[in-house]
Amino acid sequence: MAARPALASGVRELGTESAFSVLARARALERAGRDVVHLEIGEPDFPTPPHIVEAGCAAMRAGETHYGPSAGLPELREAAAAELARTRGVPIDPERVLVGTGAKPFLFFTILATCGPGDEVVHPDPGFPIYESAIRWAGATPVPLPLHEASDFAFDVDELGARLGPRTKLVILNSPQNPTGGVVGAGALRAAADLILRTPAWVLSDEVYSRLLHDGEFASIAGVPGMLERTVVLDALSKTYAMTGWRCGYAAVPEALVEPLTRFFVNSTSCVPPFVQLAGVAALQGPQDAVTAMVDELRARRDVVVAGLNGLPGVACRTPRGAFYAFPNVSAVPLDADALATRLLDEAGVAVLAGSAFGAAGVGHLRLSYAASREDLGRAVDRMGSFLDGLGGR
Ligand SMILES: Cc1ncc(COP(=O)(O)O)c(C=O)c1O
Repeated sequence: MAARPALASGVRELGTESAFSVLARARALERAGRDVVHLEIGEPDFPTPPHIVEAGCAAMRAGETHYGPSAGLPELREAAAAELARTRGVPIDPERVLVGTGAKPFLFFTILATCGPGDEVVHPDPGFPIYESAIRWAGATPVPLPLHEASDFAFDVDELGARLGPRTKLVILNSPQNPTGGVVGAGALRAAADLILRTPAWVLSDEVYSRLLHDGEFASIAGVPGMLERTVVLDALSKTYAMTGWRCGYAAVPEALVEPLTRFFVNSTSCVPPFVQLAGVAALQGPQDAVTAMVDELRARRDVVVAGLNGLPGVACRTPRGAFYAFPNVSAVPLDADALATRLLDEAGVAVLAGSAFGAAGVGHLRLSYAASREDLGRAVDRMGSFLDGLGGR
């Protein structure tokens, strides 16, 4: 009998994003006739603004349907460079801007291009699970940097300092943050940069929620003198313009990474569809009123959901300052958060994620996306309330 084909051993190291598995389970329940409120997946429920859709369709009709340069179309690299320079307060050469199929490939390829066995990567905990997945896939060692609920999920600069050493190859930052909605201020970024500049570490600054800010001002570590040369400044059309399915992200990268990252794109995706990139130019250069309206609505929804959650027994929720996630502490509920998330879906028809999916520091929390209608948010809070009342322990 023929030997059975086997998977590569490294496949075990590859993590996942529980949002997609919970979504699949929720959809299966819906197919069986159940009603589910979806607060699990991290994407705006708004349509892509019509002028962007029209630009994509016009580009398709004009024949922009073939391969393009792997680094991105010059038009989008220039528009993205101008946008990054304006919003981060540093001059950015379009030659250093690359375009990829969303932000995710930049996470993976930056880690693969800079890290290997023996290297350490500092990353936020709780944090976007793909960081740890890619770090492990590269054979490097993840070094979690705890975010503290008591300080609205900020990291402690001394704790960052204690994690930096000769083996630190990369530091990953994310603000506004998934899953906590925390925002890192300019002061903390300056202090972090001061420490990082004493090491040879690269920085990956995941800023995909840069425009989704409810209080205060956005700051990027790339704006601190000396940092741009070692920082991948990552943004995407996905969240800002409700374009998650279009798959288009961009980053300003250090000069030494332009060629290696482009080679990763040549080896994998070849290019982002040119008609998508031209829609991206329309997004960045066109009217921004849809973004403003979306952020205003998200802020109102945040206020509704945070007030609702804080009225539930055993639940305490800080007010997130950016992105569209609430990260309530449910450690006073007489059920652990993983079981709570499962039972909320199965018994109450509310799909949320367990905080443990985002790292050890996420234990005892849930993550809810409030990029859902106010009506759905109200239904979710009501259903959670009835479920928790049924558990007792108020
Ligand atoms: C922090 C963070 N980075 C990156 C991504 C991926 O973005 P994209 O859909 O553009 O690949 C997400 C998506 O949820 C995210 O939350």
